[in-house]
This record gives sequence, structure tokens and C-alpha cells, in this order.
Amino acid sequence: KVGDDGSRGAFIVLEGLDRSGKTSQCSKLLSYLEGLGHPTELWRFPDRSTSIGQMISAYLSNQSQLDDHTIHLLYSANRWEKSSLMETKLKSGTTLIVDRYSYSGVAFSSAKGLDFEWCKAPEIGLLAPDLVLYLDITPEKAAERGGYGGERYEKLEFQKKVAESYQALRDPSWKIIDGCQSMEEVQKLLQEIVLDHVIACKKGRALSHLW
Ligand code: TMP
Repeated sequence: KVGDDGSRGAFIVLEGLDRSGKTSQCSKLLSYLEGLGHPTELWRFPDRSTSIGQMISAYLSNQSQLDDHTIHLLYSANRWEKSSLMETKLKSGTTLIVDRYSYSGVAFSSAKGLDFEWCKAPEIGLLAPDLVLYLDITPEKAAERGGYGGERYEKLEFQKKVAESYQALRDPSWKIIDGCQSMEEVQKLLQEIVLDHVIACKKGRALSHLW
């Protein structure tokens, strides 16, 4: 089996606006890597299975109200509570495909008007991904796809602000994928980039920390 030789797994994050296609692409990547024999798991944030995750979920579905700072720190705490397990998995050779991470945390909260640097601070020291894939789609296109469920952030005006925040967060290492292409085209591009990174990590690239 591929992961049994002491090499580590890759930490791959997909980011993008709501309805950008991340979630479908993540599951396809999982099947692809598993098909090649690479131990892989699909993770997502918020992880709604924990008690912090349940507070986030209640907030998102408008069943509870929380101050913007408070919910921001809960999203961050939700990543921190998973970070040691994440590190263990990566070090034992499992590749993690992660649907949203700290970048969503900063993009969504700063879109509400919170200070950008303040938003970044609680993420300091979390594991940094080996690769950030950004599915690029305009807020208008995303809205046209329909399927905004009634969750709190799924509104065009707000998604426009989130897109601007993502723009401010982007760094040159991000891979920007045109999310308006067909699902198959997007997947083909993602597969090539992801496989390169999985192989680079197996060869011993070091894990690092945010930011
Ligand atoms: P989901 O639709 O991917 O489950 O995410 C739920 C919403 O939570 C989505 O609109 C993005 C938002 N979000 C934040 O505001 N901060 C965060 O840290 C994360 C991970 C997600």
C-alpha cells in the first residue's frame, strides 16, 4: 500500500464562493486518489459533527444569533480542535482533501466588516496546506447556478464582498482554476495539480504553519 513507507500525505485545500463547485470536485478527487492507491480522506470545515460545529451549524441556519467576532472564533476553534488529528493523519501517510479552511474564515468574516488582520490572528500556528486550489467563479454566475439553500451567507450582495476578501488573501502559490468550465474540465485540471503535490509530499516536503 502506498502510505506504508513512512512518507507523509498531502494537505490540499479547496476554496471558493458558495456554489463554486468545491464540494463535488472534492469527492471526485477522493475517488481519483483512492483509485491510484493513495490513502486519502475528505474533510470539510466547518466540521459540524463536534459540539462547536453544532453551534456553528445552528448559527448558519439562523437558529441562533451570535456576534460576528464570536462566530469567527468558533470557526477557528473548530479548526484547532481538529488540528492534532489532522497532523497525525498527514504524518501517517494519509492525504487530506479539505473543503474550506482558514481562508474561508478570513474571507467571510472580513466581508462582514471585521478587521482583516484581526481575522487572521486566531489562525496563526495552524497547519498550513501544501496546496490551495481556488475555484474561481463570479458571484453572479454562482447565484445563477441556483441552489442557495436559505443559509445565512448565501446571498448575492454578501458573496460579492466575500469575493473581494478572497482577492485580498490570495497569494502567488494559490492555483486559480476557472470554475466556469465543465465539471469534467475542472476535475481534469485539479487531478494533475493534486497528483504532483501528493508525490512531492511523499518525497518529504516539510509541513509548515500559518500564515
Ligand atoms: P459550507 O457550506 O461549506 O458547509 O460552509 C458553510 C458556510 O460557512 C459557508 O457559507 C462559508 C462559511 N464559513 C465561514 O464563514 N468561516 C469559516 O471559517 C468556514 C470554514 C466557513
